[in-house]
Amino acid sequence: MRRYVFGQPIETEAVVNKPQVCTDSMTELSVYTDERFPLNFATTLDAEDIVYGLGENVRGINKRGWLYTSHNSDDPNHDEGKHSLYASHNFILISGQRHLGVFFDTPGEVIFDVGYNHYDKLVVSLPEADVEVYVMEGDSDLAVIREFRQIIGKSYRAPKWAFGYGQCRWSYMTSDEVRDVVRNHRENGIPLDMLYLDIDYMDAYKDFTINPATFGDFDALVSEMKEQNIHLVPIIDAGVKKEDGYDFYEEGKKNGYFCKDENGEDFVVGVWPGDCCLPDMLNDEAREWFGNGYKFLLDKGIDGFWNDMNEPALFYSRKHLQEVFDAVGDFARGNLDINRFFQFKDLMSGISNNEEDYASFYHNYKGQKVRHDKVHNLFGYYMTRSASEAFKRLVPDREVLMFSRSSYIGMHRYAGIWQGDNKSWWSHLLMNLKMMPSLNMCGFLYTGADLGGFGDQTTEDLMIRWLSLGIFTPLMRNHSALGTRFQEVYRFDAVEQMKGIIQLRYRLIPYLYQAYEKAINEDTMMFYPLGMVYPEDTTARRIEDQLLVGDDIMIAPIYEQNAAARHVYLPEDMRMLRFRGAELVEECPLSQGHHYIDMPLGEVCIFVRNGHQLQLADIVESVADLDWDNLTFV
Ligand code: GLC
Repeated sequence: MRRYVFGQPIETEAVVNKPQVCTDSMTELSVYTDERFPLNFATTLDAEDIVYGLGENVRGINKRGWLYTSHNSDDPNHDEGKHSLYASHNFILISGQRHLGVFFDTPGEVIFDVGYNHYDKLVVSLPEADVEVYVMEGDSDLAVIREFRQIIGKSYRAPKWAFGYGQCRWSYMTSDEVRDVVRNHRENGIPLDMLYLDIDYMDAYKDFTINPATFGDFDALVSEMKEQNIHLVPIIDAGVKKEDGYDFYEEGKKNGYFCKDENGEDFVVGVWPGDCCLPDMLNDEAREWFGNGYKFLLDKGIDGFWNDMNEPALFYSRKHLQEVFDAVGDFARGNLDINRFFQFKDLMSGISNNEEDYASFYHNYKGQKVRHDKVHNLFGYYMTRSASEAFKRLVPDREVLMFSRSSYIGMHRYAGIWQGDNKSWWSHLLMNLKMMPSLNMCGFLYTGADLGGFGDQTTEDLMIRWLSLGIFTPLMRNHSALGTRFQEVYRFDAVEQMKGIIQLRYRLIPYLYQAYEKAINEDTMMFYPLGMVYPEDTTARRIEDQLLVGDDIMIAPIYEQNAAARHVYLPEDMRMLRFRGAELVEECPLSQGHHYIDMPLGEVCIFVRNGHQLQLADIVESVADLDWDNLTFV
């Protein structure tokens, strides 16, 4: 492991075990300045090289052939044309003749041209020449990953119950609606451990409040849910409503805990409640204060949270909005020809998440005034850290579930992540699968995507297939957006099939949890690309739609509509277990090589490696009822 320092990098606290700075010049990558960027790193790629990494991002497990930008972005409409999602995970691993891992530690923008302009070249460019670069080489991909994980520290450990099934929707509007959703699960015998509360449980979308009209009996709701082994998991948003008399806002304002504009005034942005201020998550004192906010819900017995809108997502800034209002009048008068019409459209579409806004407010970071865009990618990380540190202070004996939308490497020590706002698209099911190993490399083990898809209308078959993948991901949550089709599984004709698949999840929890714990303890992965486990097998190295889960099993989900079978490649002899719902209906030895395997809706095939075993629990309705000692071994 070699650590190089360029310029004056801002400390991110991604790395906890820092090696000595290497003062020799870098040999593994060429380093240069050009007319576009003050700092570039480049290397040649062999035809067969795979470039792994970049955590949460679009496209393949092998990142070759595209341009990726580290810039945490709120983009619910992402497709493969995008360059960044909600997180920045600047770790890459070149796998081929050499196994070379590189981590670019900077909270600012990094552009990864992974064979996009030239297929045989990797070029990493930085608009600002301040970065710490960690370079590691090893005998295998997994050795490099372990080395990397050892410097960034152990991953967050979620409670066992967080491996149960969770139901979410934006939003269940009243406590009675919550009761209804839970009752429908219980009456249908559909296992459930978590019920998520989206923004409407709050009073006017104000953090650390409860809507008295619709959730007035919140305390009773929490205890009723507890009796049924259901954990209520409320959302917390990054922006704090700017409203005189709202005590949390007043406290933040009085103590100077909000991000400031260039004149030292609180910077005002728009999120769900309208005008908000952004807590200065990078300021130690403000972070402690924000974390203490969770006490309100912890005191009510809550033991799980999801942090949202923390890229931070800005619907608008007051300052920019005023400029837009002033300009709109001009457009209202006169002809809108092609140029003026597009100017008008750009003006409107540029209101949200505007780059100029990100360069218009400031943090007080370690006593320095730092412009937000320089540290943009840290905001979600530090928000979530504020929560996690508060849990340790306030409820040291409670295991708390915590996951965030935005993140940066380092946050993996404090929480998990979900994969942001996806769509009810088959391509996003596949993206969910591909992101798992990329995230694992970067330390994010407790993760999963919105099952069934968040935006757009899901379909029954998509729901079934997505659940069939989701039963393997640590975070297994069905979530959908306001205005979309309701997708709680009991609403579908195929409820019995879906229930069976969720029951299978519970049968798998002991296996999955031990694989998860092992990945934490041994700084390894839970989801492996085949090429990392069978590096000599050139076919396995090319497979992008099958994964190993833990050390013992392989999965090959269906991700195309109307497909009832698929090609599966076996890198070694394996035993196929076919489940119809939760029931094991077929066991069949298969030899190494190519197979075309029937997988009708409602059936899940798991491939057990030669000489390995899979343990299965009995079917239960919640993790609390799982018997971890009496397992069936296959
Ligand atoms: C964001 C979140 C989504 C949530 C919605 C409303 O889009 O990513 O999960 O449902 O906000 O809070």
